[in-house]
Amino acid sequence: MRVLVVDIGGTHVKLMHSGGPESRKFDSGDGFTPQQVVAGVKANTRDWQYDVITIGVPSPVLRGRVMAEPWNLGTGWVGFDWAAALGAPVKVLNDAAMQALGSDDGSRMLFLGLGSGLGTALVDDGRVIALELAHFPYLGQTLEDILGQRGLIALGEDKWREAVIAGAKLLRAACAAEYVVLGGGNVRLFKDLPEGFRRGHNDRAFEGGFRAWNSPDVAEPSGSPLKSLASFAPREHLRALFEKDPGRAERFFLKVGGDLYVDYSKNLITADSMTALFELARKTGVESLRDQMFSGAPINNPEHRAVLHVALRNRSTRPIYANGRDVMPDVRAALDHIRTCAESVRSGRWLGYSGLRITDVVNLGIGGSDLGPAMVTDAMAPYTQDGPRTHFVSNVDGAHLADTLRSLHPATTLFTVASKTFTTQETMANARSAREWFLTRARDESAIARHFVAISTNAAEVQAFGIAPDNMFVFWDWVGGRYSLWSSIGLPIAIAAGYGHFEQILDGAHEMDEHFRTAPLEQNAPIVLGLLGVWYASVLGAESHAVLPYEHHLWRLPAYLQQLEMESNGKRVDRDGHAVAVQTSPIIWGEPGTNGQHAFFQLLHQGTRLVSTDFLVGIETHDRLGDHHRLLVAHCIAQTEALMRGKTEAEVRAELAEKGLSPDAIDQLAPHKVFPGNRPSTTIMYRTLGPRTIGKLLALYEHRVFTMGAIWNINSFDQWGVELGKQFAGAVASDLGAAGPTTGHDASTNRLIDLAKTR
Ligand code: F6P
Repeated sequence: MRVLVVDIGGTHVKLMHSGGPESRKFDSGDGFTPQQVVAGVKANTRDWQYDVITIGVPSPVLRGRVMAEPWNLGTGWVGFDWAAALGAPVKVLNDAAMQALGSDDGSRMLFLGLGSGLGTALVDDGRVIALELAHFPYLGQTLEDILGQRGLIALGEDKWREAVIAGAKLLRAACAAEYVVLGGGNVRLFKDLPEGFRRGHNDRAFEGGFRAWNSPDVAEPSGSPLKSLASFAPREHLRALFEKDPGRAERFFLKVGGDLYVDYSKNLITADSMTALFELARKTGVESLRDQMFSGAPINNPEHRAVLHVALRNRSTRPIYANGRDVMPDVRAALDHIRTCAESVRSGRWLGYSGLRITDVVNLGIGGSDLGPAMVTDAMAPYTQDGPRTHFVSNVDGAHLADTLRSLHPATTLFTVASKTFTTQETMANARSAREWFLTRARDESAIARHFVAISTNAAEVQAFGIAPDNMFVFWDWVGGRYSLWSSIGLPIAIAAGYGHFEQILDGAHEMDEHFRTAPLEQNAPIVLGLLGVWYASVLGAESHAVLPYEHHLWRLPAYLQQLEMESNGKRVDRDGHAVAVQTSPIIWGEPGTNGQHAFFQLLHQGTRLVSTDFLVGIETHDRLGDHHRLLVAHCIAQTEALMRGKTEAEVRAELAEKGLSPDAIDQLAPHKVFPGNRPSTTIMYRTLGPRTIGKLLALYEHRVFTMGAIWNINSFDQWGVELGKQFAGAVASDLGAAGPTTGHDASTNRLIDLAKTR
């Protein structure tokens, strides 16, 4: 985050940005107004890049609001909307507090700004607390009268210096500060400072302004109601919260229909935290944006598109409009096309060029045209035993396609070329190579029609590739790639598991959509999960979220959710193009539960990072193998308990003593075996992982992502961030093919290209 600091004084406004050492200033003075500050800032920082701004104002400031007109400037400061005027998120501090923050060397420090007035602040472990001590009675006058400019003039330098030190020592004792920093213009009048005093400097205000965006206590920028929520974080360990509140597990438990349960009671929340979070959902308009989505409004505003993946699984007779047109007839026609194809391939009616039935389907696609259908086809393993084998090729690394084709025969292979745009380089490269592989053996161009179908929104490109319109399975621009598995992109699922099962997936998702659309906030599972997501990412400072399926068939779920969540909410500007002032999408990661236990659970239990987690498990299994499922469920539930409870030092010591260890041995070993606990988890439990449940689960996560984006006021439905790398890849690819040394890039890139050319 790039920060601009604006330090407003009685005579000058000083500027510095985190992108360079240079500072600039312009005059202020009597009568100076905030509007003049804004004009001066804009005029003096045209060539500077910054995302957020810190403003130091010579006046009392409380929670980011100027509480009184500065005595040495003009009027209009109280209530002035800096963020709107400057077009960026702004944090406002008292100028002394800003200088104090910049002078802080840790522990507890009292700051006195000796300028025309007297600025006071306290910094405790990096938290700045603005003080207003200037008017405090002192030596029959006020502190400011004595320690400020007036005192200097009245007392003369020597007596004034004595009065300052005496006054400072008094205040230090009162604030229990470990040391005092004297700052402000008049500190220059001190040649030496006594023990426990340090010299500040006005320029430390810049440092303070930079630090303000990392300091927990500096008031939130106006318009972002998030970080101040931290005060609702539980002060007690989860263990104590469960002991004190026997109703906790019931209070934080949700059911969606008869077969999906969400236990979120092992999260770092209290009833007050949830009340504050539901209030946040109301304040940020989550429900109204949701309703706009279902009504077909173009909520993907930068692309002027509706967001209607819910229409793909609308099982009701309700029409859904996009640009004033009911899309449902098209949706149903596309589903019909999927059904016809799936049934024809599965029944053996769809024959290859040599009259053989299709035994293998190879989906060529990447991102949303791969992750969804690949993950769901795996999750549907118990239902795909009677269908053709499916293979998913996404990587442009030729090894992926070559490995796949090695065991296949063109006569019995059907390729589904899946690409929303039909221009994605990796997919088109794989499609061209697959066609070549096919034609080298089939030796008949017309056979393409029996072995290649396209799934796309781009009819022109599909035709140009040589796939007939009848073999094109359509979808629409109001379906985001990472939300497209419910569309024709799901064709491989329908072929593998049967159209009936595919429909059940849509049914499950529709049930979740109806729950999301109609349930009150407090009962609304996707909204609760979304609020918890924002809670950890933007308030409690968790960098990542782990998804841990205790279900082998969901092994690709974390990878699928990485795209869904991080491509949706990995954004730094809001819907209006302003830089966001809080952390947005967490990093999503994960592996199947028990595997993770023997890989990274060490970090989850005893690491230093806060990681929020989802544990997913089925009450029943398709594969009843001895005691396996009881063990699996046991591990899942036990891990959430262990993360929550931990093990205290006392418990560890008692355990080691019971094992007969010597006191020395216990002293040595005990610290390593302590588990802090108080580590959060949400458990999502379902009856069995069938098609309906798969649909419900994935729609649950889609709406979690939606809720988080709505609260952050970011657009979750575009992905401009993927373009730059692709653009550069074009240039590098042509350089790799060019003769001679490369010169068109930075030295590192040129060298890497030249190195890569030494093939
Ligand atoms: O580059 C990212 C992305 O655009 C994803 O959003 C999308 O799912 C993927 O590439 C594939 O795009 P397409 O389906 O158009 O080939």
